[in-house]
Amino acid sequence: MTTGSSLLILGQGADPASERGVSCPGELPPASDPALVERARAAKAALGDRLFVLGHHYQRDEVIQFADVTGDSFKLAQEAAARPQAPYIVFCGVHFMAESADILTSADQQVVLPDLAAGCSMADMATYDQVEECWEVLEDAGIADDVVPITYMNSSADIKAFVGRHGGVVCTSSNARRALEWAFAKGSKVLFLPDQHLGRNTAVLEMGLSLDDCVVYSPNRPDGGLSTAELRDATMILWRGHCSVHGRFSLDSVNEVRARIPGVNVLVHPECRHEVVRAADLIGSTEYIIRTIDEAPAGTAWAVGTELNLVKRLAGRHPDKTVVFLDRTVCFCSTMNRIDLPHLVWSLESLAQGEVVNQITVEAETAHYARVALDRMLALP
Ligand code: 13P
Ligand code: SF4
Repeated sequence: MTTGSSLLILGQGADPASERGVSCPGELPPASDPALVERARAAKAALGDRLFVLGHHYQRDEVIQFADVTGDSFKLAQEAAARPQAPYIVFCGVHFMAESADILTSADQQVVLPDLAAGCSMADMATYDQVEECWEVLEDAGIADDVVPITYMNSSADIKAFVGRHGGVVCTSSNARRALEWAFAKGSKVLFLPDQHLGRNTAVLEMGLSLDDCVVYSPNRPDGGLSTAELRDATMILWRGHCSVHGRFSLDSVNEVRARIPGVNVLVHPECRHEVVRAADLIGSTEYIIRTIDEAPAGTAWAVGTELNLVKRLAGRHPDKTVVFLDRTVCFCSTMNRIDLPHLVWSLESLAQGEVVNQITVEAETAHYARVALDRMLALP
């Protein structure tokens, strides 16, 4: 189970219970090796149908070119569940996504994360012990029976299992509204983990709740920093977690780009802060962002508030449109970027030689209950 603080320096030291901070055990090829692309191609060809490579949209260009399927978290979970034939699933994404793939695939399939340090700082903001403690606070306040827990996909398997055990569901940025509708049909309150912004943005902008209906539970403060009355009055109990990449976008970024590029459309991910999402023109998951720009007429201008690898790729793919990063300061997701060509080549060549490296395995009971919550998500109307 995930415990304690886990903000280790990337790639150094080890906290195997955390989403990141685990050094890679392999003999990696040097990044300067000009044959890396060829080596990745050869290893992939040697593995043939035994291999399926999933790539999240935030992955580097050098890596995403080897993905058999690219997608947002939801699509990748569906794709992993739909590949019973491939014994090896290489997940080019972050740790919680690979865990979900392991949970959704059969026991004889092996899921590989090319660099174990590819975690997610947001997922690390909710540990199992903290969430159990929060539930006790809700019980003491006499409201636990009214609360349906929802966890964002960006959480560890043991948090998903907690939610599965307590009658809740997993959601992603593409189905958060449907998950909330499902939850409010079952209970009168929702505990939303671990991204306060996705929870707040969906509740207020899509479900018609007000900001006053939401409270923020701070796991590092006694009783979450909330009184019993505040908990009883709240409809949405939001966990104090956020994405450090999307948290960088501000109202100033929106105002500045509107002044700089007249007529620009501001398109942001729902992990952005509430004031940013309110000021934007369109909001959606990475898959939605791609579709929107792909379908936009030539000559239109777009400022996109999401991870930089994706924005750069969209700009390159649409030379007939103006596509810019929403903020002046560029920012990659450092953990998504951990998966680079040397790690990919190393993992593929190891598999081709019959050695499974960096396998992600979720313990059976955790996997069982996490699957309950994931299956509820996959079955949402
Ligand atoms: P998507 O589900 O939109 O791909 O988002 C995943 C993620 O980690 C965003 O930061
Ligand atoms: Fe996690 Fe944010 Fe990176 Fe997504 S962009 S993987 S939420 S740190």
